[in-house]
Amino acid sequence: MASKCLSPVPILPVLSRSSRTSLQCLRKRPMQALSHAAAQPQRRHVSVYGYEQAKALSFANYGDPPEVLFLHKHSISPPHGELMTLRFLASPINPADINQIQGVYPSKPTFTTSLGTAHPIAVAGNEGVAEIIALGDKVKNEGFKRGDWVIMKGPGFGTWRTHASATSKDVLLLEDAAREGITPIQAGTVSINPCTAYRMLSDFVKLEEGEWFIQNGANSGVGRAAIQLAKNWGLKSVNVIRGREDKDEEEELKKGLLDIGADVVITDEELQSQGIKDMAEEWTNGGREPIRLALNCVNGKPATAMAKLLAPHSHHVTYGAMSKQPLTIPASMLIFKDIHFHGFWVSKWAEWHPQEKKKTVEHVLELTRRGEFKDMPFEELEWEYETKEKDLVQAVQGTLEGYRKGKGVFVFKKT
Ligand SMILES: NC(=O)c1ccc[n+]([C@@H]2O[C@H](COP(=O)([O-])OP(=O)(O)OC[C@H]3O[C@@H](n4cnc5c(N)ncnc54)[C@H](OP(=O)(O)O)[C@@H]3O)[C@@H](O)[C@H]2O)c1
Repeated sequence: MASKCLSPVPILPVLSRSSRTSLQCLRKRPMQALSHAAAQPQRRHVSVYGYEQAKALSFANYGDPPEVLFLHKHSISPPHGELMTLRFLASPINPADINQIQGVYPSKPTFTTSLGTAHPIAVAGNEGVAEIIALGDKVKNEGFKRGDWVIMKGPGFGTWRTHASATSKDVLLLEDAAREGITPIQAGTVSINPCTAYRMLSDFVKLEEGEWFIQNGANSGVGRAAIQLAKNWGLKSVNVIRGREDKDEEEELKKGLLDIGADVVITDEELQSQGIKDMAEEWTNGGREPIRLALNCVNGKPATAMAKLLAPHSHHVTYGAMSKQPLTIPASMLIFKDIHFHGFWVSKWAEWHPQEKKKTVEHVLELTRRGEFKDMPFEELEWEYETKEKDLVQAVQGTLEGYRKGKGVFVFKKT
């Protein structure tokens, strides 16, 4: 397939990669993703006194989403002082959102009666982008204005809702320049998966151009982001996916990841096969280009098998547990190979490094604008004011089942 260098000027990653001087261009390929939701003005349900009619997918108790989620309707009074009213544009359904509803995620949502219920409820969802539709004087003085786009500063705000009342402490402003040419879905999905991939590639070991990393869950949002960032920075990747019963589908999936910049794509079965060491030698020029970083969101055998391919003194970062299996580490890897095992949680990182989060988000959006960071495949779940509770809950459930074609994202239309 034809290659085309899209960007003559490298955009350097923030923090540890500032010394890079050259980048490998990405091949321009047909987009993997579905259509973008353009930012379009929407009719709003506003009462005569300026009260905003809002709907929120909420839960009062922890449990499985279909059992505990309900659509709560309430109104939001006109904002004053330090308050702003947000209208959501796009909010993804991430695995952590589900874990949070189930009560098994370390960051807990805020249960409150402030939305007009007798008993405390929490609004589901942690990531998203919203537009400021009204704001009090104090927020104006802080530099916000109507029409600004904001993303959530941290987890637990509740983003699966049409509208919300917030303060500047809850949100991060996307400056006009950062948002230019960016769709709501791109802005609404930038702060968790791409940031996670970005930080894990940057902060544990300084990989030099031409060096390798290996990852499982390569078809996930984080995995796809890691492939593209690595390619942009001149790094090489071995990518492990779950095999498919349908081999044509598996080949298509492999090709899709190669198209966005993966160097090698294998299934977890291939990773655990006998010949894997020889294969790895072949990819890495007889081992002269060491694999020095592993990114793991699966655990179980695929995580241990990846660790076995690492060069001595390498780093192995765990950031998820999709297989629900424990991580098992042979002692020899610590004693004789000095492999360093780490964990990473983007929520904690963002809390500790708010300015770096802003820079990381802006950098990914810049790469997106320049065509060097493609969207992951999405399934747009349209949310109108009239959309029924059962359809929204069904959409959440649907994203949990089987081998999905793309990440579910609520795209708010006429709300
Ligand atoms: N620590 C952090 O800061 C952080 C931040 C973001 C995400 N995460 C974690 O990273 C992981 C990926 O999140 P995401 O939002 O990028 O995911 P996503 O886009 O929603 O995709 C989910 C991925 O998980 C894979 N998967 C599902 N069940 C699996 C199983 N039983 N065994 C192996 N793989 C399985 C899927 O594989 P197929 O492609 O084969 O369907 C898919 O690639 C999750 O565990 C999430 O909690 C952690």
